[in-house]
Amino acid sequence: MKLKNTQALTSFRYGWLLKRVFPYIKPVLGRVILGFLIAIPVGLLDGVVSFSLKPYMDYVVGKQNLILWGFEIQYSVIAIAMPFAIIGFAVFQGVLRYINSYLTDWTSFKITNSVKCDLFARLMYMDTSFFDENNSGIVINRYLNDPDIASRGIVDQIKTIIISVFGALSLIVVMVYSSWKLALVGVVVLTIAFVPVFLIRKKIKSVSNKNIVIAGDILTTMNEAYSGNRVISAYNLQDRQIKLFNEGIDKSFNVSISLTKRVGWMSPLMYLIASFGIAFVLFYGTKLIYSGHMTPGSFASFVTSLLLLYKPVKTLGNTMSSIQNIFVSLGRVFELFDYTPLITDKKNAIKYVCLDNCIEFDNVNFSYSNENPVLKNINLKVQKGETLAIVGNSGGGKSTLVNLIPRFYDVTSGAIKFDDTDLRNFKISELRSSISFVFQDNFLFTGTIKENILLGNPNASDSELYDVIRASHLEEVIQTLPDGLDTMLGERGLTLSGGQRQRVAIARAMIKNAPLVILDEATSALDNESEAVVQKALDNLMKNKTVLVIAHRLSTIKNADRIAVVNNGEIVEIGTHNELISIEDGQYKHLYEMQFREKEEVIS
Ligand SMILES: Nc1ncnc2c1ncn2[C@@H]1O[C@H](COP(=O)(O)OP(=O)(O)O)[C@@H](O)[C@H]1O
Ligand SMILES: [Mg+2]
Repeated sequence: MKLKNTQALTSFRYGWLLKRVFPYIKPVLGRVILGFLIAIPVGLLDGVVSFSLKPYMDYVVGKQNLILWGFEIQYSVIAIAMPFAIIGFAVFQGVLRYINSYLTDWTSFKITNSVKCDLFARLMYMDTSFFDENNSGIVINRYLNDPDIASRGIVDQIKTIIISVFGALSLIVVMVYSSWKLALVGVVVLTIAFVPVFLIRKKIKSVSNKNIVIAGDILTTMNEAYSGNRVISAYNLQDRQIKLFNEGIDKSFNVSISLTKRVGWMSPLMYLIASFGIAFVLFYGTKLIYSGHMTPGSFASFVTSLLLLYKPVKTLGNTMSSIQNIFVSLGRVFELFDYTPLITDKKNAIKYVCLDNCIEFDNVNFSYSNENPVLKNINLKVQKGETLAIVGNSGGGKSTLVNLIPRFYDVTSGAIKFDDTDLRNFKISELRSSISFVFQDNFLFTGTIKENILLGNPNASDSELYDVIRASHLEEVIQTLPDGLDTMLGERGLTLSGGQRQRVAIARAMIKNAPLVILDEATSALDNESEAVVQKALDNLMKNKTVLVIAHRLSTIKNADRIAVVNNGEIVEIGTHNELISIEDGQYKHLYEMQFREKEEVIS
């Protein structure tokens, strides 16, 4: 799946999305509901202030005593009490607001975090081709930033909606109480003012989808600035990278501003429609007062409510567009949840991987995409305990061939078998446990050397650890390091030399002690001197194991039991060194003369 091609098809299926996000809300549901309940009085208290204007105008300004339930209250008492009451209400509302924000943030973080953790767990089990297809930026953006927008916003926006709706309701009640005729006008105008909000949601979705891709590209450029910094410096690529970055930023600006262009008129338009309403109300209200149908207090109350109403209504307008954004993000998040990796365990996967006789490639064909076959009709048997060297032209398919064994990719047709059992029947984690893989460019994790080695087998004893360190010729390296085994490696282990990194990787493979060893050009990136040391380490790793080794070094190849020549996706020759060398015009003989002999002379 290409993450760039997001459609977020489910974005407008609000009910469906809420149902899917509900399991994440459920554990904190109590607090979410409490937060929502508290939001109600916070909103309602808005109406209190405007309502209080009525008695103030009618009794205090009009110097009349209020008769309430048979008691007469002096207007001067009202005059003194009201300011205090207003402050009291503000304090009360403030406390409620605080509790409400706390609850909202707490629950939002919890929900977002569990969505993120679940997504990361899914990402960890994605297949290799997923990582081939998608660059780092888009992965980070969609797996880390999108869930933030999606789930953090939900609770917050619902809270805002509740506060605004109840705020608006309380103000409308005050308005109706003051004059139902005027209130009717107000409500009609408001309803009209809301129409534009629903017209723009498609645009919001398309902009949001574009933006996530652009932001991904920007992040990728940022990542390259980090991991490619030496190449950038060496080839003076700074300006190129700066240009790439600026282009991303510009694109994101254009996309966002195009949304503002379409959406920006909404708020002024709503304001304009509202001003018509207010103008009409003033006109009509004056008439009602002069004709004695309304007290000036009621009118003041009404107009204040109407003006105060603007804020919750505007907030609701904004919330509506934010909510669209959230649902688009949610749609994208659940798109990720619905993507199942291409390579997964079968239902009744076999939990014990055994390799007693041989590994067999049975008529294996493979292509990365559907067009170009990379491996064609591969038939191959490697006996247990045998060492098979694989040589051939660059791009011929050697790495692809060995990558099929741990199921980084699955065969397009045919099958690979351990003792007659198709690999696809094994539990993937068990299959991979039975293989020690050393790559050409091995990844080391941020952490100490010791931690990196023990990743191969966290339960290894100290004596096993020291055996492995000796066998991988790491002893002398570790002795020179200030903190020895506990030396921290920088990100990707870059503080070690190539040969040293490779030996740490070999130690990691060795401590795993898997029956099958696969080496993909494990020494080819090294200079002659470190190659010789690493080779010794590899020889130790290969002892008593079944080994597939892609190599360019003659001694490795010569010592192998058999050699397979893979050219352009086919095994063109297979046999011992002596057999192959005696084929007149043979491919191996040709390779040998071109490459190995020359290299061998340099090394020895
Ligand atoms: N991840 C990939 N996605 C698509 N094509 C690939 C991928 N890896 C390798 N290829 C292609 O497959 C062919 C064989 O590559 P590879 O197995 O790496 O060759 P070798 O290891 O023999 O040099 C090449 O044409 C290469 O371009
Ligand atoms: Mg290769």
